[in-house]
Amino acid sequence: MEKICFASLLLLASLALCQGRVVRVPSGPLVRVEGQAVSIRCNVSEYEGPRDQDFEWMMLQGQNQFQLISTFDSSYPDALFKNRVSSGDISIKKITDSSVELKIKKVRATDSATYQCSTPSTDTVFSGNYKADVELKVIGDSLKVAPSIPQPMVSEGEQLELHCNTTRAFTEHTSLSVTWSFKVGGSPMAEILTFGPDDKVTVGDSSAQRYAEGGLRLDLRGGGFYGLVLSGARPEDQGKYVCTAREWVRQGGGSLHKILEKSEDMGKVTVKPTAQSLQVTVEKNTTLNMEDTLNLTCSVGTGNLASLALAVEWLVSDGSASPQVLIRMDRDGTVTGGSAQLALSRVSPGDFHLVAQKVEQSDSGWYSCRVRAWLPQSSTKWYQAAEKTSDPVRVLVTQLKPEFKVTLSAAVTPQFTHDPTELHCEVTDVLHLRDGHLGVTWHYSEAVPGDASSATETVATLNELGALVPGPTYAKRLESGDVTLSRGEPTVFRLRLLRTRTQDMGAYSCSVSAWAPSRQGGWEQAREVPSTELKVQWSPKTPVLSVVAHRIREASSAGSTFEMSCHVTGQNLQNPGYSVLVRTEERSGVASRKVLSLNADSVLQLEEWTEPGRVDSVALEKTGRLEYRFRLYGAQLSDRGFYYCEVTAWTREQGGSGSASGAPGGDWNRVVSAESSKIRITFEDTGPVFNVSIHSDKHRVSPGETSKLQCIISVQGASPNRGDVSFEVQWFQSPVHALENGGAEPLLSMDRWGVVRKSASATGANQSTDCSLERSDAHTFTLSVHGARDVDAGEYHCVATPWLLAPASGSWSQGRQLTSPPIYLSIRLALWESMRLPLLYGVGSSLAVGLLSILLGLICAHCCCRNSQYTPRSSNKLMDMEMD
Ligand SMILES: *[C@@H]1O[C@H](CO)[C@@H](O)[C@H](O)[C@H]1NC(C)=O
Ligand SMILES: *[C@@H]1O[C@H](CO)[C@@H](O)[C@H](O)[C@H]1NC(C)=O
Ligand SMILES: *[C@@H]1O[C@H](CO)[C@@H](O)[C@H](O)[C@H]1NC(C)=O
Ligand SMILES: *[C@@H]1O[C@H](CO)[C@@H](O)[C@H](O)[C@H]1NC(C)=O
Ligand SMILES: *[C@@H]1O[C@H](CO)[C@@H](O)[C@H](O)[C@H]1NC(C)=O
Ligand SMILES: *[C@@H]1O[C@H](CO)[C@@H](O)[C@H](O)[C@H]1NC(C)=O
Repeated sequence: MEKICFASLLLLASLALCQGRVVRVPSGPLVRVEGQAVSIRCNVSEYEGPRDQDFEWMMLQGQNQFQLISTFDSSYPDALFKNRVSSGDISIKKITDSSVELKIKKVRATDSATYQCSTPSTDTVFSGNYKADVELKVIGDSLKVAPSIPQPMVSEGEQLELHCNTTRAFTEHTSLSVTWSFKVGGSPMAEILTFGPDDKVTVGDSSAQRYAEGGLRLDLRGGGFYGLVLSGARPEDQGKYVCTAREWVRQGGGSLHKILEKSEDMGKVTVKPTAQSLQVTVEKNTTLNMEDTLNLTCSVGTGNLASLALAVEWLVSDGSASPQVLIRMDRDGTVTGGSAQLALSRVSPGDFHLVAQKVEQSDSGWYSCRVRAWLPQSSTKWYQAAEKTSDPVRVLVTQLKPEFKVTLSAAVTPQFTHDPTELHCEVTDVLHLRDGHLGVTWHYSEAVPGDASSATETVATLNELGALVPGPTYAKRLESGDVTLSRGEPTVFRLRLLRTRTQDMGAYSCSVSAWAPSRQGGWEQAREVPSTELKVQWSPKTPVLSVVAHRIREASSAGSTFEMSCHVTGQNLQNPGYSVLVRTEERSGVASRKVLSLNADSVLQLEEWTEPGRVDSVALEKTGRLEYRFRLYGAQLSDRGFYYCEVTAWTREQGGSGSASGAPGGDWNRVVSAESSKIRITFEDTGPVFNVSIHSDKHRVSPGETSKLQCIISVQGASPNRGDVSFEVQWFQSPVHALENGGAEPLLSMDRWGVVRKSASATGANQSTDCSLERSDAHTFTLSVHGARDVDAGEYHCVATPWLLAPASGSWSQGRQLTSPPIYLSIRLALWESMRLPLLYGVGSSLAVGLLSILLGLICAHCCCRNSQYTPRSSNKLMDMEMD
């Protein structure tokens, strides 16, 4: 309590004495940088005594005190500072009577201390303060500025970063400011923006608007990183940049005092103006067919495409007038002037497609693309950075002629004559045909040896309407279907020769023509493209046919069987069929005769073999694949001669789709014929072989009866024609008419002209035989012995001599005499002969009586009793009985 009272008393006293001396120094601490000049003021007031006051400065460092300098005592400085004082590094300057300034020219780090200013008393009363302290802190120069511009070359509109790293070691009591400045040409440095001290932002006059619009932005990442970002670089931003760092201290009174400043050149920034880098090109000169789609691309190239907003206009000019805007796209993407036919689209950041459908000739012209590049000036404002128009390209809309390629190839090549040939005429790479039609003309030119060119023939034409127009020499073959023209998909024209002939060999070509509808409504040929020539050729293999005949069975005599086989060998024939015709000729050089034939379908036919009764005596059959057999049964003299086969090879039409199998039902085509070797039928002309036999119905006859004896001549082997043979026949009875010479005289004879002669004995008066001879048919000579008597009994035989007419000479020749075996004729008793007449009369009268009685009986029976049967049989019986 006492203490407090004492303190308050002191305070009161001092207040009471506040009229006393006051020594003042600036309030500390004073912070200064090593090496800099420091001046510290000190003044005194409220003092008594002389106006001019003296001052002394002392330095207090911890417990140590050093006298520094005095205004009145030159020996005052401590030895430590004597040199500095004498060199003027440390000085004291009287400013007024009552104020001084302590000056250190180059303050040292060791100068950090508390400085005390004191005034010796000149007062009557020791009152007030006589000294005042101020602290001086000397800091090192640690301020470092490291500027950098990561991208000193930017395009207009791009962001420009200005980095200004600033570091310092001492931060207490001090504050930092970073200033970015800009200098272009010789003009003075213009401050853009200053950050600090105390985080304050100061914007230069020239940048104020930009800053206000957000175009300037600080990038403070801490750690000494100070960055300024210009969000849209402009051409006027090009120049030198300087970065200045300042260190400030706040003086006692609160005002900021700059203690350090360092400036560094950041370097040059180049801003490429959009106007300079903007490239606008249009692809490309185009020729279009009417109704085609026009497709143009406007390509925009620039360094800063991403930051630009592009407005695109397509201009079209007919070459004379100024270009007209066709369609436009604003920088926000809205399109004006588009239609269903016309569209503008952005297909990539720098590519704009103009697509015009179904162009007409009036759409021809010079097309160019005008591009305006816009850049943001602020978040709301844009400015146009550049405008550029491309070079125009020429778009020509015209009626384009069709274009295509024609390739001729062989799909099927013949290996043989009569093989099919198929050629394909293919049309590819068709352009501008639109609704046009294609037609084709096939040409053929004969293959001529050497270089000589031969005339070209027109095979046929498929015209623009698909109709076939045959060439003059091919009309028939086209009509028969041997040559066909067809069209396949997509565009292949085919020429087919069904049966290629040897004379079809040669060079073929097709010529494809394109037809466009003409204004008059018809068609007009717009283009014709010929193919190259294609040779159709094969080494012609002549079909070869050979036939060999073999004798199987020899006809050694008339009536025997002849058999021969014909073996066929064919070469260079495709699926052949063979027909065989057997021919005969009497001798070589004489006209031959057809015997019979077997056609390719194995149908047998008799040709000129028409002898009645001998139709079945010839046969022809197929006994193997290539083997045929001919048979002649019962060979006759007239069959003698040479026999041979005439073989013809036939081929059929090939089937439709080029398959090798012959289509059944196709027509046979004659290819080649051949004759076989000749086989001869020959045998000795032995003439016919005759045999004679004898026959009688009755071997026993009653006297007076007629007996018939037949002499039958049979012919064996080749029977001669009716007129070519005749017979001499003699009948003999033995032993009655034996002749003296041991021979026998014939009873009756018939010469070959049919004249009958009786023998002399037979014609004599005595007991001659009553007989006759007649030819009852061609080979039967019947002897009738009339009124048989017992002298007629005996052995009979006939002798026949055939006479044959030699056809060649026309003379008759006598054949071998033939004698029949004998036959015996016997006569019944003569008694019977004597009894015969009376018996006949008796029988006749009794027969008449019997008949009368029967007649009576019949009448009676017919009248009285109708039921009774009368049979003629009983009458017969009765008659038989009576005869016996
Ligand atoms: C010296 O005195 C004047 C007024 O007389 C005062 O304004 C000034 O601040 C003083 N100087 C110092 C260093 O105290
Ligand atoms: C500036 O500071 C940043 C971040 O600390 C650093 O990445 C960069 O390298 C510095 N620049 C220079 C030039 O020192
Ligand atoms: C387009 O054609 C004109 C002349 O017809 C020519 O001068 C120009 O170079 C051509 N342009 C292009 C891109 O081919
Ligand atoms: C236009 O041409 C470009 C390339 O040249 C193509 O990609 C595009 O599909 C075409 N557009 C039309 C509509 O043809
Ligand atoms: C002739 O005919 C008779 C009887 O018919 C017979 O026996 C005889 O062999 C035949 N002769 C000849 C040569 O044929
Ligand atoms: C009749 O027959 C006798 C003996 O039988 C004979 O002598 C006489 O010559 C015959 N007469 C005639 C005319 O032949």
